[in-house]
Amino acid sequence: VEPSLAASVTPDGLDAAQRAGRGEMAPEDLRATLHAAVDVVADYLAGLDELPVLPRVAPGELTVMLDGPPPIQPEPMAAILEDARRLVVPNVTHWQHPGFLAYFASSGSAAGIAGEILMAGLISNAMLWRTSPVATELEAITVRWLREGLGLPDDYDGLYTDTASTSTLVALGAAREATAAGASRVGLAQGRRLRIYASEEAHSSIDKAAMTLGIGREGVRRVGTDEVLAMRPDALRAAISEDRSAGWLPAGVVATVGTTSSTAIDPVAEIADICAREDLWLHVDAAYAGVVALVPARRAAFRGWERADSIVVNPHKWLFTPLDCSLLLTRRMPVLRDAFSLVPEYLRTTGGAGSGRDYNEYIPQLGRRARAIKMWLILRYFGLPGLASRIEEHIAMAQELGSRIDAEPDAERLAPSPFSTVCFRWRPAALASRAGEPAVAVLLDELNERLLARLNESGEVFLSHTRLRGLFTIRVSVGNLRTERRHLERLWDLVREHGRDLSTGIT
Ligand SMILES: Cc1ncc(COP(=O)(O)O)c(C=O)c1O
Repeated sequence: VEPSLAASVTPDGLDAAQRAGRGEMAPEDLRATLHAAVDVVADYLAGLDELPVLPRVAPGELTVMLDGPPPIQPEPMAAILEDARRLVVPNVTHWQHPGFLAYFASSGSAAGIAGEILMAGLISNAMLWRTSPVATELEAITVRWLREGLGLPDDYDGLYTDTASTSTLVALGAAREATAAGASRVGLAQGRRLRIYASEEAHSSIDKAAMTLGIGREGVRRVGTDEVLAMRPDALRAAISEDRSAGWLPAGVVATVGTTSSTAIDPVAEIADICAREDLWLHVDAAYAGVVALVPARRAAFRGWERADSIVVNPHKWLFTPLDCSLLLTRRMPVLRDAFSLVPEYLRTTGGAGSGRDYNEYIPQLGRRARAIKMWLILRYFGLPGLASRIEEHIAMAQELGSRIDAEPDAERLAPSPFSTVCFRWRPAALASRAGEPAVAVLLDELNERLLARLNESGEVFLSHTRLRGLFTIRVSVGNLRTERRHLERLWDLVREHGRDLSTGIT
């Protein structure tokens, strides 16, 4: 990088605005700076394959390199960006690396990155129609496009939030309002103890929403699961009836399609029947797996979700959208509004512009990023079939890995893989018949913990783990646009190499 970026930059590398200590960068310097920043990003993404997925740093090491007194003298942008290349770029965990197979992917496409750049440049706060007419109207349009793509009925409306945690908070806020009318005004006094039901495998964001909404963690009742880790409807029915007898006020059920640990699928249709009978809000958490419904042939997994009051699907997980964007669909927008609308005088729109929708009325926050702009780019760039075919490809790759595990006498799957996530462990064949013995179970947990550490130390892959029925479980989740078959083949070679090495001598 040259020490100067553009025309008005002086021999000391500062631009005219910096030297004057006033105002914003001149247009030609702005353009050069943005081009230079884009080059950092494009070089980074082009060279990802060569980086270790996890940066090789220990906690605190970066502070030693980056810390110092607060900047006093302005510094040349070229020098700052050079430091970014040297110190920042290599030291993020590389979520976009093809070997990043941990958690659930958050895969940012070029179209999504371009969308983020537009959003950053326009800096348009989409809190009111008046404060961003185009972001507001594009939000309604792109939410509809997604809703149609997912095959959901046209009475679903919705909006974007930052994360699934917020979408679920909003949905459960509406459930609270629907059950204890006026709760947003008078709170949950008068002994109104609300209960939300979710499976033992459901995400912790439900408990956090309950904590935030005054329902409390005790207000979330975890319902037992069956042999495939899906919610048991009979256990749900029993829990609701027991709670009603004990004076609780059941408010809603969260059914998950694609649980975080194993991607289990709750029986949404049966749960919807129970919710209809009991008059409970049904929220479907499909934060990860929801995008699979873009593939019409795969909609069976979602049977019954079209009866939900609300549904969350995260584009920022597996729809090639850079963090952040979560889609909250609901057929009960007015209830969200009852739960969250508060319009002080200074937010009233005057001047006869008419009444476009003001999205802030449906959520806790006022300021909102104009996420619709990036969704508009992504949806137009890929097209719905283009998105669906990439998702299909990821599912196929994960299924192939699953078949390799099934064919390997020294490994076993620990849960079904209905989508693109595979849960397994290394289990030497010699131990197969004794795996239930407590001492053997501990040995296998330790072996797999060490296997995971070795795989992640390789720098070629990054996997995460969970526990399924108490067993240490390695998870591989495919959802990254840059992951190809050869990466999963390499992963499997590494698993076998280290698995065999770690089990030497086990008989
Ligand atoms: C099923 C499920 N729901 C909710 C969440 C929370 O997502 P977010 O990070 O967008 O809040 C996750 C995260 O992985 C998840 O797996």
